[in-house]
Amino acid sequence: MSTSLPSGPSPVVHHPIARAAAHLIGPRGLRNMDRLRNEVAGKVVVVTGASYGLGAATAELFARAGAQVVLAARSVEQLRQVAAGIAEKGGDAAVYQLDLTSEESVTEFADALLHDFGGVDYLVHNAGKSLRRSIHLSYDRPKDVNATSGANYVGPMRLTLALLPSMRARGNGHIVNVSTVGVMFGVVPKWGFYLSSKAAFDIWMRAVGMEARGDGVTLTTFYAGLMHTRMSAPSRWMRRLPGQTPQDAARVLARAVVEKPRTLTPIYGHPFAILAPILRFPMEPILGFVYRRLGDTEASLARAEAIRPGATRIQLAETVGSHAE
Ligand SMILES: NC(=O)c1ccc[n+]([C@@H]2O[C@H](COP(=O)([O-])OP(=O)(O)OC[C@H]3O[C@@H](n4cnc5c(N)ncnc54)[C@H](OP(=O)(O)O)[C@@H]3O)[C@@H](O)[C@H]2O)c1
Repeated sequence: MSTSLPSGPSPVVHHPIARAAAHLIGPRGLRNMDRLRNEVAGKVVVVTGASYGLGAATAELFARAGAQVVLAARSVEQLRQVAAGIAEKGGDAAVYQLDLTSEESVTEFADALLHDFGGVDYLVHNAGKSLRRSIHLSYDRPKDVNATSGANYVGPMRLTLALLPSMRARGNGHIVNVSTVGVMFGVVPKWGFYLSSKAAFDIWMRAVGMEARGDGVTLTTFYAGLMHTRMSAPSRWMRRLPGQTPQDAARVLARAVVEKPRTLTPIYGHPFAILAPILRFPMEPILGFVYRRLGDTEASLARAEAIRPGATRIQLAETVGSHAE
């Protein structure tokens, strides 16, 4: 069995039928870019996780519409490349280093934003850390706790706390939370760190959104389905499923800021959210059974091995599943 990881979507997902299926599954994005321009031209749009994937595509799209885009993430060189591409097309982009797992980094970033721009018009909580790994492989990996809860929950929570007061004081602003449709399904083995941190921030942000709406600050939660990005690339089966490109999903975020709906989900999101508690009893035993049949991904096993050099290689030969970290 090869241990090399796939990268990028399979060519199958570019087939017109797969593209049509992805479009049907949705949610649909904004088509009329003049509406985006009318909304964001000259406004400050902060996009976390703008170094790759959806964040980079969103920054590019919003900058094309005339926004002053703030790009934040850990990989500064990568951010600079995205910003250079934006500048080449006449757009306005500023780069800030941000590590959401560090309280100090979040505070410095928020202070710099308030100092440099005086406030934020749109805040896109896009940065995220995915993790699909059996719990026994995380026993010796305390960083799994911090990486997921910091990037998906505590960091975005701290950033909101730092920026919301000025948005409320100005009486306007829109926050977009890029969540996952997975939080509408209930629980899936191996996804505990990722789904619990995404679900926690979803609930916290919705409560805050209800409080802040009266002061003119609105919230859209995008429960994203499959997107073909660096995040989903290591999962062999996901690479073959119809999904949105980062550019498709960026247009969904454009719709979020223009139309300001409370939620945006793929077509199956709300039906699953209704069925998940009703079907909990049959689904949990079935998913537990399937989980015991499938192994861990090569990336998860390799990383667990890397930090425990003396450890036994865990059932690699029996592994048939794929993985994303
Ligand atoms: N891809 C999917 O199928 C899918 C499905 C549902 C939801 N989502 C959500 O969509 C959002 C965008 O993901 P993507 O698919 O575009 O993945 P991606 O290409 O891996 O991008 C993730 C971004 O988050 C940033 N990030 C990660 N940890 C960070 C940290 N500690 N501090 C600051 N930035 C951090 C990364 O930048 P650095 O590494 O440079 O810091 C990167 O720019 C995420 O919130 C994800 O959970 C994705």
